[in-house]
Amino acid sequence: MDDVLRRTPLFATLDVDAAASLRASMNEIELARGDLLFHEGDPGDSLYVVLRGKIKLGRTSGDGRENLVAVLGPGEMFGELSLFDPGPRSAGATALVDSTLLGLSSDELTPWLATRPDVARALLRAIARRLRRTNDSMSDLVFSDVPGRVAKALLDLSARFGTPAEDGIHVAHDMTQEELAQLVGASRETVNKALADFAGRGWLRLEARAVVLTNVERLSQRSR
Ligand code: CMP
Repeated sequence: MDDVLRRTPLFATLDVDAAASLRASMNEIELARGDLLFHEGDPGDSLYVVLRGKIKLGRTSGDGRENLVAVLGPGEMFGELSLFDPGPRSAGATALVDSTLLGLSSDELTPWLATRPDVARALLRAIARRLRRTNDSMSDLVFSDVPGRVAKALLDLSARFGTPAEDGIHVAHDMTQEELAQLVGASRETVNKALADFAGRGWLRLEARAVVLTNVERLSQRSR
């Protein structure tokens, strides 16, 4: 079985046979870059695990502005809120690049939760972790300036999508500058200014839908 899958909260505590049985009850979904999996507000009763690619989760305000609540990569899970608390999807899910997902319906998950407290505990832990992150993001929106939030977002993306490069860490985030701004919760102009400033200081290099972080220490200091 795929290593990525074995590391997800859903599978982490299962032995080989149980993992194979759960995997067999999931359906594989291929998305091309830009494909929408579901809209914010849609009804939903499946959760998804990202096997390959990147998914952006976005919310739209009444006047049409977009905010990205998260960008998820391999091994990360989403869509569980509507499953545990039946109601409309709290965000829309769109593929940033060609992606492969595994979907698990509520009907398939329920027996696992009833018979395997370790699976239920792992899912609760994943949700608790997300709440911590959301609280951190909320505090950052209140207490940090835009450059600080940009630095933090880049470091967070680098921890998940970064690969070593000759002069630093190459982070292929696959977002436009508009999407990066939506993730940071600021205007494109302000985020561009912060990126240009960091580039001018030699802390990073800008590439199309990617950055190379060349001074992680200074970016970390700036993110605090
Ligand atoms: P659901 O509401 O079913 O569909 C959208 C999904 O986005 C949601 O479940 C969560 O899995 C995910 N999601 C919503 N808010 C956040 C957030 N703040 N951080 C990370 N993921 C989120």
